[in-house]
Amino acid sequence: MNSYGSFPGARPRRLRTTPAMRRMVAETRLRPADLILPAFVREGIAEPVPIQAMPGVVQHTRDTLRKAAVEAVEAGVSGIMLFGVPEDAKKDAAGTVGTDPDGILQVAIRDVKAEVGDELVIMSDVCLDEYTDHGHCGVLDADGRVDNDATLERYAEMAQVQADAGVHVVGPSGMMDGQVGVIRDALDTIGKEDVSILAYTAKYSSAFYGPFREAVGSSLKGDRKTYQQDPANVRESLRELALDLEEGADMVMVKPAGPYLDVLAKVAESVDVPVAAYQISGEYSMVEAAAEKGWIDRDKAILETLTGIRRAGAQMILTYWATEVARNLSAGR
Ligand code: PBG
Repeated sequence: MNSYGSFPGARPRRLRTTPAMRRMVAETRLRPADLILPAFVREGIAEPVPIQAMPGVVQHTRDTLRKAAVEAVEAGVSGIMLFGVPEDAKKDAAGTVGTDPDGILQVAIRDVKAEVGDELVIMSDVCLDEYTDHGHCGVLDADGRVDNDATLERYAEMAQVQADAGVHVVGPSGMMDGQVGVIRDALDTIGKEDVSILAYTAKYSSAFYGPFREAVGSSLKGDRKTYQQDPANVRESLRELALDLEEGADMVMVKPAGPYLDVLAKVAESVDVPVAAYQISGEYSMVEAAAEKGWIDRDKAILETLTGIRRAGAQMILTYWATEVARNLSAGR
């Protein structure tokens, strides 16, 4: 019997007949433990500050961050990625607060560690843009260009103070050449060989970071095209991947996620380390905005984006919906 007779020879629809059947044959499953919650903590505020461009996401106070960490644990989320937002007056050209042991990120790491201990994998951003007055991810040379090697020295020190504060994983996100190797070295030198590195292996220069700039109060003018990757390229990501692995990356990440699923799939098929993807601020905000207008079904759209990212090969997903989605998954919704 072939498909040209009166009856189709094959009927793929049979496996789609009931919800139970569809659940049974699903090739991709999303579990709470796949999810990692990115969170912002801001210095010197008494109440959480809503981020206008990310409805539902706030800049946390130290207290509400601790609560968010507990909620994440209860929902079954496996990790939290922390970003510090210092007082504006403390930003300078070198991003000094990034290496201050009492800087907001280090304080937040200690807070979360005291609150949930090892029940969450505590991760932190190693990058200078949250702390520099010019908003770039590195320090600038005399001509105003981001100075790769001078920045590496700052990253090494940042990773050390974050490790001293008790972080489990550092996430260098600045796309400087050699950052993973320098950070590995810096950590081992102070006896922090157990602190892992989640390498932002493929990080593209993306318009979808827009809402994040508000989230961390960034004053960036211009763009990051001399250090983040060109959206046109994919081979370049495989080169970045080879370098990161050689330099000692424990896990690798692709970012953004949705518009780069092909990159994610290629990276995932070529490594034997865990692969993460970061569903970034703009990906979040697009869904929230369209849902607010009544143009899409919010919950279904969220699950579809996350399932797509898993299907493409990400084992872990950083998403601002982590706690909510984990809760719903645990409840079987
Ligand atoms: C750099 C960093 C950024 C994000 C995470 N780490 C901003 C950038 O590279 O411009 C963006 C995350 C998001 O948009 O959700 N510290």
